Parts: sequence; C-alpha cells; structure tokens
Amino acid sequence: MAVQRTLVLLKPDAVQRGLVGAILSRFESKGLKLLGLKLRQFEPSVFEAHYEPHKSKPFYPGLVKYMTSAPVVALALEGVDAIEVVRNMMGATNSRKAAPGTIRGDLGMSFSSNLVHGSDSPESAQRELALFFGDARELVNWSPVATPWIYNVAEELA
Ligand code: RTP
Ligand code: MG
Repeated sequence: MAVQRTLVLLKPDAVQRGLVGAILSRFESKGLKLLGLKLRQFEPSVFEAHYEPHKSKPFYPGLVKYMTSAPVVALALEGVDAIEVVRNMMGATNSRKAAPGTIRGDLGMSFSSNLVHGSDSPESAQRELALFFGDARELVNWSPVATPWIYNVAEELA
C-alpha cells in the first residue's frame, strides 16, 4: 500500500458527450483526492510526448489526431494505490468489452474513442503528471476532511 498520484485524462469524446461531470463524479465518490484539474485543447506535441511509448504503433497518428480534436480535461488524483484503482475503474481499452460497472463499460461503445486515460505505472504517472501539470504549483496540497472516513488511517495511512 502506498499513496500514489496518477494522471487521468477525460478524452475529447467525454467532453463532447457532456460526460465530464459524470466521470469526475465517479472518481470523487470513490474517495480519490483531486489535486489538479484543467480543461484545454492541447497542441499535438503534448500528445506526441504523452503517447511516445506507442510511437511505433499504426494507431499512433490517429490517436494524436483524436486527442487534439476537442478539449480534454486533465486530472491529477491521489490515493492509496491510486494508479491501480483508477485503471480498474476505467475498464478494458475496448469499451465494448469493458466490464459493466467500469467507466468504459457503462458509458462507451468504442475501442479507440474510449473516454478516459489513466497512468499505467508509477513511472508513467510521474512522466505524465509533469507533462500536463508541469508547474508544481498547479497541484494543490489540501486536507480533505473526509480522509479519516474514507480510510482506516492507522492501518492504511500510517
Ligand atoms: P490509455 O493509455 O489511453 O489510458 O488507454 P489504455 O492503456 O487502455 O490503452 P493503450 O494500449 O495504452 O492505448 C492507448 C490508446 O490508444 C487508442 N488505441 N487505439 N485503434 C487501435 O488499435 C487502438 N489501440 C489503442 C485508445 O484510445 C487507447 O486508449
Ligand atoms: Mg495506456
């Protein structure tokens, strides 16, 4: 168990379909702490860097085009095991195969336009958070009053 930070992107289809509130609400209700929140239509260079690990894949140019086709919402979230928690909440990449109860499984029908991104490892999270929240002052350190009701502090946050 470790307190982790992770980058989430609400992709252009989530913004265009008016699902920002519904998806953000799931992360808030889960108990993840919101540290940063930004709506922007980013330059292609940002997504070229973000999806750099996929650079050699055939879908890479289309992916960059999709991600720059409308605004995205970038979230910085924190919690115990936050990276795995968010990935599980997102569901499988192919929304048609994603389990009911997950964001993709409940809200989407597409493989590639799949509503949401979440960092897949601590290394990715660090790299991606630096890309979307480069200035550390953009992340707000605050103390949610609900923390002792979300966690067993002695067992999980000691
Ligand atoms: P993400 O990185 O966005 O959180 O999604 P993921 O881990 O579930 O999927 P990944 O394999 O990392 O792929 C990144 C994104 O590229 C698009 N994609 N399209 N057409 C295709 O074959 C294809 N494969 C991947 C999706 O938007 C996927 O989320
Ligand atoms: Mg990925």
